[in-house]
Amino acid sequence: MHKPVLLEETVSLLVTDPRGIYVDCTVGGGGHLARLAERLEAEATLVGIDKDRRALQETSARMVGAAPTVILVHGDFRYLKALLRGKGITRVHGILLDLGVSSFQLDEAERGFSYHLDAPLDMRMNPDQNRSAWNLVNELPEEELAGIIWRFGEERYSRLIAREIVKRRQVAPINTTLELVEVISKAIPSRSKRGKHPARRTFQALRIAVNDEMGALEEVLPQAVDVLGSGGRMGVITFHSLEDREVKNFIKLESSGCLCPKHLPVCVCHHQARLRPVTVKPVVPDVHEQTANRRARSAKLRVAERI
Ligand SMILES: C[S@@+](CC[C@H](N)C(=O)[O-])C[C@H]1O[C@@H](n2cnc3c(N)ncnc32)[C@H](O)[C@@H]1O
Repeated sequence: MHKPVLLEETVSLLVTDPRGIYVDCTVGGGGHLARLAERLEAEATLVGIDKDRRALQETSARMVGAAPTVILVHGDFRYLKALLRGKGITRVHGILLDLGVSSFQLDEAERGFSYHLDAPLDMRMNPDQNRSAWNLVNELPEEELAGIIWRFGEERYSRLIAREIVKRRQVAPINTTLELVEVISKAIPSRSKRGKHPARRTFQALRIAVNDEMGALEEVLPQAVDVLGSGGRMGVITFHSLEDREVKNFIKLESSGCLCPKHLPVCVCHHQARLRPVTVKPVVPDVHEQTANRRARSAKLRVAERI
């Protein structure tokens, strides 16, 4: 079962009009979607998007009997405006993004997300996509691979791991998750293997790269502001410092008026604030949630309102 993170906080901060139109861009196990449905009235509409068809299949059964109209859409949230336009929607009251991978995806061994379960190296949230973790691990130049592992995994041994991967694949392709775990373990010095799993950071980095998670986030944020009606809110739950920085900087920029350098006597940029931050500091799970749900430990929720 996927335990939704910051569930009550998110729903309370997001819903401003219980008869409005709300979009959950990351349906996953449907935890936030189901709670939103409980909070909304029958006149409301709830759109759920996910690029993983299995997430939508699981959730559709869960939403039977929900009071609001529920529309589930298979697609990538980086095309948010087009996906909504396809359903005849151009203005909404709230948008939620709960980023990253769901527990369902991690637990389905054959998806290749988990370093505990042996499976083909895959990690695609949308299996219709061409490029999988296998392609990155077996085809990328060493420098590029090291860059991904460093940037998205913040793995201090990224260069050693990339070198070991390239050495191994010159003999034979690395086909499975556990083969990759073995290569990573060999690359990391033994003194650093205590504590968390040695493959944790590399697997996270590969997942983020395979699914272009940072690219999708950068593309969806401005679209979310475009479709929010005045007073509507967007909430973003992140699990990685890079994602949180992206969201924080975006809200800061969109909450600013003129962006001209101070020495200019008049404004030439004509930038206007479109957002007001609702959470000045990110909301984080309390100690009870952090104890009950390990995934929640790195979660941060930021909410902003359309002016
Ligand atoms: C953390 S889970 C969401 C969990 C959900 N809030 C719940 O309570 O069950 C993230 C989900 O977002 C989906 N996802 C990630 N990136 C996406 C994208 N660019 N477009 C659409 N769905 C995406 C994943 O497939 C996954 O199912």
